[in-house]
Parts: sequence; structure tokens; C-alpha cells
Amino acid sequence: MKSTFFKILVMAFIIGVLAACGAGDPEAEKTPDNNTGDTATDSQEGEKAEKADGKVLKMATSADFPPFESYDKEGNFVGFDIEVAQAIADELGYELEIQDMSFDGLIGALQSGRVDMVMSGMSATEERKQNVDFSEPYHRSGEMFIMKKDADINSLEDLKGLTVGVQLGTIQEEGADELSSKYGFEVKKVDKAALLIQELNSNRIDVGYLDKTVAEGFIAEQGLEGFDDPTTSSPGMGIAFPKGSELTEEINGALEKLIENGTIAELEKKWDLTNAE
Ligand code: ARG
Repeated sequence: MKSTFFKILVMAFIIGVLAACGAGDPEAEKTPDNNTGDTATDSQEGEKAEKADGKVLKMATSADFPPFESYDKEGNFVGFDIEVAQAIADELGYELEIQDMSFDGLIGALQSGRVDMVMSGMSATEERKQNVDFSEPYHRSGEMFIMKKDADINSLEDLKGLTVGVQLGTIQEEGADELSSKYGFEVKKVDKAALLIQELNSNRIDVGYLDKTVAEGFIAEQGLEGFDDPTTSSPGMGIAFPKGSELTEEINGALEKLIENGTIAELEKKWDLTNAE
């Protein structure tokens, strides 16, 4: 047994060495990845790809937050943030590329330079501003506690002894941690905002705590009810960039233009975002 294992190890090593040599082999390098075999076309395509590459805007979002960002039935990204991002990209001549990730991974993705910007209903808090830069605010939303109909929970005082669910990495996670000892409730943290609805419907949490604009949509769609968070002081939502990014100014300019020419107002209407403060 041992010797067979050893043989496999040796073989794996040899294969590894051969592969490494192959990578340095000029003949091997010529083989085009897409196997068209036509070198002229390849290099042309290479140039094109390079040009297009330079104009790709990589955005990350947590697509669990309708009407800001979610998926349609066909699996396409949809929502207000998606359309605003697309309008900005069109305005500036970028190709928009969107990556979905957990909300609490977004700031890290910016800091490590994996993406150029984040649009994810992200509130431009002072704390986050220590790690990322923000555009001008593009939407304001209060916060809300939501629960099943007839739960008879109408105020912070009623939360005593209950379990309140929040999404990891959000301002509500921080807010709930602060409020929980004063009002005597448990906090349950979930990865995706939409999970809050599942948790509510299956009675694993009593209350969900989230942005009002989004809460109102869930209330209407799921037949829930809710009350406004009287303690809310959430700042406006902004597009986030790595600290010192050159894109901040460029995109801010485009955003201001879209605010001035009414595009943002139109999209707010389309996605039902008005009056959520
Ligand atoms: N506005 C809140 C925050 O910035 C929640 C945002 C959650 N966004 C999302 N796509 N799940 O913390």
C-alpha cells in the first residue's frame, strides 16, 4: 500500500515538473487558448480583448436585496443598483461586469482590489469611510423591524425575549448588537437578506431588521407587517470604491449627471424607491 502511494506521489511530481517545463516552452505558448489556430486573428482578438479589458468596470454586489439587487427568473441581475450601475457604465463607456458575493465580503473585495466598485444598497457610514471611499449618496432609506402578521409586536419594548434576525456585515447587525442588551432580545445573524424572510416564515426568528425600502417590498410581497426603527440614523447609500481610487471622481461625475438629468428619479420610480425615509 505504502509503496503504491509513494509511486503515485513520484508520478504526480514528474507530471508537475513536465507541466512546468511545458509552460516555459515557446512552442506551447503559441497554442491559442481558444484553439482557432489562426495566429493573425488571435493577435487581433488579443488586441481587441485588451482594449475591452481596459474599459471593464468590475462591480460587486450582494444580490439578495430587492428592489436594489436580486435575480430575475432567468438568473439575470435586476434592480435599481444594477440599472444605475449600467447607466453609469454606458455614460462613461465601460463594460459592466457584476459579481455576486456575501454582503460582509464586499469591503474586503474592494480593499484587495478584486473589484472596482460596490453597489449594494450600502450605507455610507463613517466607519466604512475609514476603509473605502464613497460616491455622493444616491438614495436614502430608514430602517424597519418586520414580523409575521398578527405577531403583535409594535415597538422596541415588545422585542424583549424575542430573536431578531439581521444580515451579517450590515448596519443592522451593528445596530441590533447595540439595542439587544437594552431591549433584551437575541440577535441571529444570517448571510443573505432573503434568508431573513425564510427564517421568519419558519419561525426561527421572530423579527427581521433591515432597510425600510427593502422591508416594505418584503412586507407587501410576503404579507408581513412591521414598524419603523425609531433609533435609525442611517446615512444615504453610496457607491463604494477602494480608498484613493481614481474612479471615484469619474463615477461621481456621471452619477451627478444622472441625478440632474432625471435618470435616477426615473429609476427610483420604476423600482418603487420613493419615500422610504
Ligand atoms: N444598507 C444596509 C447597510 O449598508 C444594508 C445593505 C444590505 N445590502 C444588500 N445588498 N444585502 O449595511
